[in-house]
Amino acid sequence: MDLSPYESRIERPIRRKIPDLVSNGRLKHLIFSEQLSAELMGELFATADAVHDLSSDEDGARFLQDLLRHKKAMLYFTQTSTRTFLSFVAACQTLGISYADIRDPKISSEYKGESPLDSVRMFSSYFDVIVMRDRTPRFAEACAYMMNDDRDIPIVNGGSGADEHPTQALLDMYTIERAFTFRSPTDSSKRTWYEELRQDHPTLRRGIPGKRFAFVGDIGRGRTVRSLAILLAHHPDVQLHFVAPDVDGLRLSTELKDRLTRAGAEVFEHTRIDDVLADADLVYMTRVQHEHDAADGPEVDWSDFQLTAERARRMRAYAPILHPFPRNTEIPFEVDADPRATYFEQARNGMWVRAALLAHLFGVERRILDQHRAVFGQYHDYNEGVLRAR
Ligand code: NCD
Repeated sequence: MDLSPYESRIERPIRRKIPDLVSNGRLKHLIFSEQLSAELMGELFATADAVHDLSSDEDGARFLQDLLRHKKAMLYFTQTSTRTFLSFVAACQTLGISYADIRDPKISSEYKGESPLDSVRMFSSYFDVIVMRDRTPRFAEACAYMMNDDRDIPIVNGGSGADEHPTQALLDMYTIERAFTFRSPTDSSKRTWYEELRQDHPTLRRGIPGKRFAFVGDIGRGRTVRSLAILLAHHPDVQLHFVAPDVDGLRLSTELKDRLTRAGAEVFEHTRIDDVLADADLVYMTRVQHEHDAADGPEVDWSDFQLTAERARRMRAYAPILHPFPRNTEIPFEVDADPRATYFEQARNGMWVRAALLAHLFGVERRILDQHRAVFGQYHDYNEGVLRAR
């Protein structure tokens, strides 16, 4: 894809790009997970909690649906998607945003040779936000610059090639923070069994600092691990363990490793899942991205990267199991009954955080939080662990 009009901006180091993606201290576009500061995530997660709670009854659901009735979203997903697409649809419906989608460019004018950049420029004439997924890295980024030059509407990156998936990182962080938040008189975490587990693990602290995270599978080709690891690395005393075949392209890239180390994380590499299970505070499984296999690529025995029920028994009693999904055989169905299997909750969380993100982009999060306070009488304080660590 020809992104040449934006090449010089794309080639800048990330810290020089971030000012182009914000406006008055707020997100204007979401392209990179690195845009998600702890403070911004705290706000988004509080909004996600409020959307979750307000959605639970008819009055709350109606309040939310009236907030953004005047807004329209384009969901431009030319690469396959189930959860990201549908949770954005559900998020739009929750906030009353009407939406249209293109999922197959063959039935749009791109079939007649229209440049995808022109397509996005056209969408911006009809819609108020564009959420996009494409196999071309940097396309979403180029579209954000195009909007800055021409039309002032937000671009949300729903997955850009092997590059970034910032909204997945956002829902993963939400899930992780909630998993390491324990019940207190001021929050309503449902995970009461953690309370009991903590008695057996007195050193277990709230929040992300000081934890060991294990990522397992196709580390080199998956964008979810990349976007999430960058966010985790910014927390103090975090260890990141990557388990992947010792094969170029599948193992952790040197570029990502350097970036994580520079951010302050301790990074370890392993070639067998058995090396990390007993000590991990959380295990993030990933699928093998077979669609990117080269015909002459090496044969890999992926059974060393499966989390079977027998292996799960060796994990810490409190350690959540996450997976961005879709899964193949890396987590057999029998593991789903394990109370640590958090991946369905994780996918559901995607809907709340994406609604929170849309609310932020359109500036209505304060109204949601005020309504929540009026109805529920208090704010949840799930982020105390993170705030205390800063
Ligand atoms: C992932 C993706 O598309 O990057 N899925 C998702 O968005 N939840 C993971 C994958 O394709 O393996």
